[in-house]
Amino acid sequence: ENGLHPAAYPWSHNGMLQGFDHSSIRRGYQVYREVCAACHSLDRIAWRNLVGVSHTTTEAKAMAEEHEYTDGPDDNGDMFERPGKLADYMPRPYPNDEAARAGNQGALPPDLSLMVKARHGGADYIFALLTGYCDPPAGVQVPEGMNYNPYFPGGQIAMARVLYDGLVEYDDGTPATTSQMAKDVVTFLNWAAEPELDQRKKMGMQVLVILTGLWALSVWKKRFVWSTLK
Ligand code: HEM
Repeated sequence: ENGLHPAAYPWSHNGMLQGFDHSSIRRGYQVYREVCAACHSLDRIAWRNLVGVSHTTTEAKAMAEEHEYTDGPDDNGDMFERPGKLADYMPRPYPNDEAARAGNQGALPPDLSLMVKARHGGADYIFALLTGYCDPPAGVQVPEGMNYNPYFPGGQIAMARVLYDGLVEYDDGTPATTSQMAKDVVTFLNWAAEPELDQRKKMGMQVLVILTGLWALSVWKKRFVWSTLK
């Protein structure tokens, strides 16, 4: 059974000439860190990836250092703990899948790195999922530990509603409504899934401009070469 079809939202990065809203990526990282990271890993993103995208080098370094990483072996062959550095990847909430399932009544919170690409409906789907929790229609029984969400295929999802108005406090003063946080975290996850999007669009436009120029030149040249023949 398919979930409800999500609405098509006007993401700022949808347009041919537009890139990501980087303030939104920054707020979305905060939502991921303070809310989603309790259960979901983000394996493909390293601290350094945030530099110049949503944070400064100093900020990213400081955030990395708040987490402990196991490193080694040292000269004695021992493993040791050290603060994170820019090259480290985002820490996982659970050491392995068994622990993750044990913490979530048997359900596995999937890694979010490529989620926007992996799910049908992409960004629109995840936004709809996060904001779409509601009471089940009359006659639908939701088992203990499950939650009703019409956008999730089957309608019953192990993840409960996580976003509520005012849950985080944004440092740029944006009011943290449920839909604002959903929009921001989805923008962040969309960036995580295709970090090269801005560059790709810029390059595409450059290719168009250059090819158009070359085409015009070749038309002019052809006319010039054949101008003596009538
Ligand atoms: C599943 C996003 C927070 C536990 C999912 C899915 C997404 C998602 C996209 C996959 C849905 C699908 O399979 O189509 C998020 C985001 C969060 C968040 C963006 C933060 C805003 C949390 C938290 C928990 C959690 C805090 C744990 C308390 C789960 C579990 C599943 C899941 C257990 C698997 C559900 C199932 O297969 O029934 N989440 N999540 N999530 N999430 Fe989250």
